[in-house]
Amino acid sequence: MALVNEQFLKLPGSYLFADIARKVAAYREAHPGRDIIRLGIGDVTLPLPQVSIEAMHRAVDEMADSRTFHGYGPEQGYGFLIEAIIRGDYEPRGISLKPGEVFVSDGAKSDTGNIGDILSRDNVVAVTDPVYPVYVDSNVMGGRAGELGGDGRWSGLCYLPCTADNAFVPALPDRKVDVVYLCYPNNPTGTTLTRGQLKQWVDYALANDVLIMFDSAYEAFISEDDVPHSIYEIEGARRCAIEFRSFSKTAGFTGVRCGYTVVPEEVTARLADGTRAALNPLWNRRQCTKFNGASYITQRGAEAIYTPEGRRQVREHIDYYMANARAMREGLKAAGIEAWGGVNAPYVWLKTPAGVGSWQFFEQMLDRAGVVSTPGAGFGPSGEGYIRLSAFGKQEDCREAMARLRRWLG
Ligand code: MLT
Repeated sequence: MALVNEQFLKLPGSYLFADIARKVAAYREAHPGRDIIRLGIGDVTLPLPQVSIEAMHRAVDEMADSRTFHGYGPEQGYGFLIEAIIRGDYEPRGISLKPGEVFVSDGAKSDTGNIGDILSRDNVVAVTDPVYPVYVDSNVMGGRAGELGGDGRWSGLCYLPCTADNAFVPALPDRKVDVVYLCYPNNPTGTTLTRGQLKQWVDYALANDVLIMFDSAYEAFISEDDVPHSIYEIEGARRCAIEFRSFSKTAGFTGVRCGYTVVPEEVTARLADGTRAALNPLWNRRQCTKFNGASYITQRGAEAIYTPEGRRQVREHIDYYMANARAMREGLKAAGIEAWGGVNAPYVWLKTPAGVGSWQFFEQMLDRAGVVSTPGAGFGPSGEGYIRLSAFGKQEDCREAMARLRRWLG
C-alpha cells in the first residue's frame, strides 16, 4: 500500500503564481477583448541576448555531428561554465571559489526548493515575511513547517516581518533557529540589505550555528555601492552560507532554465550525535542522484553572457528593466501611492490605500485599470496591505500601466 507524504495535503490549493494565472484567465474569459497588462509574475519580456542565441545555435550544430555530440554531461555542470561563473561573478569581487563549490542547475527555484533534501526534518527554519513562496512551501513538503494557522502562519516556522515600520529590514530571530532564508535584493519587496546589515546576519549565524540560505537571484540589478552582490563578500560567510544564483532574470533565461548554487567546502551542519558533516559532498550526492545536469546547449548559452559583448548585452537588458522600475516609481508617486524597491531590484512594492486588503486591491486594479499585480498577502501575512508590481514588462506597457493607475487613483 502506497502512503502519501501527507505534508503535501497541508499546502494551500495551489502555488501563488498558478493561483493568480487562474484568476486572470477567469477574468479574461468574463471580459473578452479587455486589454490587460501583466505586471504580476516576474517573467522577462525581452528576447535572449544575441550572444546566447548565437552560442546556442552553435551548440545545436555540435549536437548534430557525431564528432562533437554531447550526451550526459557532468551533473555539477560543464567546467567551461563553472570557470566562467567563478571568473565573471566572484573573482572581480575578491571572492575565490573552487570549481567543486559551484553546482550548475536548471534554476534557483529548483535549488532553493530542493536544498532541504540534505537537511534534517528537525531544523527550525526562519523566513522573512513577506517571502518568496518556494522557501515556505518546500519546507512544508519537507515536514518542517508544522500546521497552518488561521493567521496565515505555519506553526513551525519563525517569521521575520519586513514592513514599512522596520524599513523592510528583518530583525534577528528572537528564538533559536537553525536555518534562515534571506533573499537580497529582495523578492518581493525589491528592498536590500547594506553590507553592514548583512554582516550582522553572518556574525549572528556564526555565533549561533545557523545556516543561511542566501538567494541572490537579483544581484545583477543592484545599482548602489553599499549593497553586497554576494554573501561571500562578508568575512566568515563561507562557513555558514549557501548562495543561489539564476540566469533567469539576468539573461532572460526564464524559459531556458539555468542557475547555480555555491556550497563552500567549509559549510557544515550538525549530526544527531553532535559531530558535523560538510554540506558540499551531500549536495553533490543529491544532485548526482536526482539531477542530470542542465543541457549542454543551455550552458553554452549561459557561458556566452560572460564575454565582453555578452556583458554589454546583459547590461542593456538590465538597464531597460530598471528604466521601467524608475518610471513605475515615479508614476506611483504621481498617483499618490507610497512605494519601495525598484532601485536595486526589478520589483516595486506599494502600499494599498487605507482599509483595502491586498487581494481586494489586486482585483480592483485588474478590473478598473486592467493591470495584473501580485497581492502582497500571497507572499506572507506581513505582505497584507501591499502589492507587488514587476518591472519586467515591455516599456510601453509599464508606462501605460502607470497612466492607467494615475487616471484610476489620481
Ligand atoms: C516571481 O515573480 O516572484 C518570480 O518570477 C518567480 C520565480 O522566479 O520563480
